[in-house]
Amino acid sequence: MRARKVTDKVMWVGSVDWDRQLFDELIPLPDGTSYNAYVVAGSEKTALIDTVDPTKTGEWCGLLDAMQLSKVDYLVASHAEQDHAGSIPFALERYPDAKLVCTPKAKGLLMDLLHVDEGRFVVVEDGETLSLGDLTLEFIHAPWVHWPETMLTYLREQKVLFPCDLFGSHLATSDLFVSDPARVYRAAKRYYAEIMMPFKSNIVKHLERLSGYDIQMIAPSHGPLHDNPQFIMDMYRDWVSGPLANKVVIPYVSMHGSTQVIVDRLIASLAEQGVRVVPHKLSGGDTGRLAMELVDAATVVLGTPTVLAGPHPLVAYAAILANALRPRVMFASIVGSYGWGGKAVEQLLALVPNLKVELFDPVLFKGLPSEADLKAIDELAGQIAEKHRGAGLV
Ligand code: FEO
Repeated sequence: MRARKVTDKVMWVGSVDWDRQLFDELIPLPDGTSYNAYVVAGSEKTALIDTVDPTKTGEWCGLLDAMQLSKVDYLVASHAEQDHAGSIPFALERYPDAKLVCTPKAKGLLMDLLHVDEGRFVVVEDGETLSLGDLTLEFIHAPWVHWPETMLTYLREQKVLFPCDLFGSHLATSDLFVSDPARVYRAAKRYYAEIMMPFKSNIVKHLERLSGYDIQMIAPSHGPLHDNPQFIMDMYRDWVSGPLANKVVIPYVSMHGSTQVIVDRLIASLAEQGVRVVPHKLSGGDTGRLAMELVDAATVVLGTPTVLAGPHPLVAYAAILANALRPRVMFASIVGSYGWGGKAVEQLLALVPNLKVELFDPVLFKGLPSEADLKAIDELAGQIAEKHRGAGLV
């Protein structure tokens, strides 16, 4: 890609990663991603905000050559993770007079991770400003979106916010700005679920602080830019503190059909009682989709057969993931089957200490459940529906 005009003073100088399928060797990227970097050209000084993933340094060099960006005074490092900071060593070599601007925490991390020379840094405190002549950059420390060193940059005169990971989406697109809101909504929700959800209490505070700024444009470090900032900010408000849905998510595995019978019965009973159900088969399933469904689910029910006296490993993985992502789920239970005993329930509960939920009694059957056995599943569905009604979700 070539450099693209964002405003009369700001250029996009990033890289679109059409083919990337996995982030952190963990997070599925069905739509690829992008690493957005920006040049802010003031009347006296020029700032480069972030770089690109190290796998894209060569391509990025070509873009900088083509736009003939010969001088950079400040390189702003919003975040030390490789997808934004990985090409900093290249940029510092290319622009030997550039100072690296970051938070005190980022300085330590960049020295640890990239061995950046200490003499290159200009450390900025929260609220500090940097003049580029006719333009002013204001730095807003924003810990935990995504790491503790993260910083947002606000371009005062043009009312543009550069929030790095916050408000991003893993979406490779030739659109510079959002042009398909429904597609961006899905991508941004997946991104929020996988990356930002564990930090929702920090995001509440950041949103409150940002409400004091006049923001006309949001230029994140992943995905298309927002010339209607309200769109993404309203979504975030909803995800971090909006009402939960009258919805039950059922991550499950069935090895020989018994757990499938149980899950099918639970789906039917809940649907009959007006509760929306999202079953998520973990064998071959997309964990990103599961994470998205957990953003606003009121209840999660894990479904597992018993394997070597414990839960199926894929269900254990789903429990670990849910525990790490910390969704706002209010209620939970476990259903499943066993052949001759085991400790699937105890082991699963030990994996989710972060989930502050009200637990319905787990329902596990020996072998294939009979029609009479399945009444217990109907009862569980009734309890869930009642709790949802009591919470005002119906
Ligand atoms: Fe896009 Fe936390 O890096």
